[in-house]
Amino acid sequence: MSPALVDDLAFRALTAKIASERGFGAANYRDGCLRRRIAVRMRACGVSDYTAYSARLDTDAAEWEKLLDALTINVTKLFRDRDVYEAMAHDVVPAVWALAAPTLRVWSAGCSSGEEPYSLAALFHRHAVSLSQQDRLSRLQIIASDIDRGSLDRARAATYADAAFVDTPAELRQRYFSPGAPATVVDEARALVTFERRDLLNEAAPRGPLHLILCRNVVIYFDAASQQALFQRFHDALAPGGYLVLGKVETLLGAARTLFDATDHRRRIFRRPAA
Ligand SMILES: C[S@@+](CC[C@H](N)C(=O)[O-])C[C@H]1O[C@@H](n2cnc3c(N)ncnc32)[C@H](O)[C@@H]1O
Repeated sequence: MSPALVDDLAFRALTAKIASERGFGAANYRDGCLRRRIAVRMRACGVSDYTAYSARLDTDAAEWEKLLDALTINVTKLFRDRDVYEAMAHDVVPAVWALAAPTLRVWSAGCSSGEEPYSLAALFHRHAVSLSQQDRLSRLQIIASDIDRGSLDRARAATYADAAFVDTPAELRQRYFSPGAPATVVDEARALVTFERRDLLNEAAPRGPLHLILCRNVVIYFDAASQQALFQRFHDALAPGGYLVLGKVETLLGAARTLFDATDHRRRIFRRPAA
């Protein structure tokens, strides 16, 4: 067997092990991305092949946690890509808020440590206040999910260091966070968000219909087939006319392009066509 084939088989065995022992469906992620992340951990452990690294995992519980941290890539910030949040504040939030639905369901899919759903909560809250409709905020549910339990614990704590605020408009920081640093999300915004663990590759969307899905900087790590299957699920979970917002370097692939209209292609804002 050639060394490349041996390496490939050992890589597949390792990803199968990660899936079976830790429920992280690594086989659906892009190979190059996974290999780079695993290589970082292998270097840190001083091992040079997948088989040796797999053996290391068998005897080192802490290494499992470090590996899962490396694979899930939790980088995020509040109001990440400010122009996207400006577009959402201007177009998406008012359109969703104006829907007659008794419950408005918004899903932040792959929410990491909570910056994204809290940013959304601030936008919806500010919009409701601008219309003197605070009493209607009780019909809004922002469901935020992630596969990574550590991130979800940080999200529930709702407290952020200065670095998380680099994209945050001053007036929103002042209104929706406690003074100083680290700063905690105020209760009015916090109360709009609930967190849950959910694996986007293997679990259904939250109970719908949903009116807005943000899934930003998550699908980029998935292989093309998994992305397409997920976009189909997003489509099916959204109410007709509901919005989908992706990360700025992500886009709809293949048949998924026919499922949505692009309302702002540059900012990756899409809409399920109205019925
Ligand atoms: C780079 S962060 C993106 C955070 C936020 N959406 C943003 O754009 O700033 C990617 C997140 O996707 C999560 N993730 C990766 N694979 C996932 C999966 N299969 N199901 C759910 N979340 C996943 C990671 O745990 C991580 O928190």
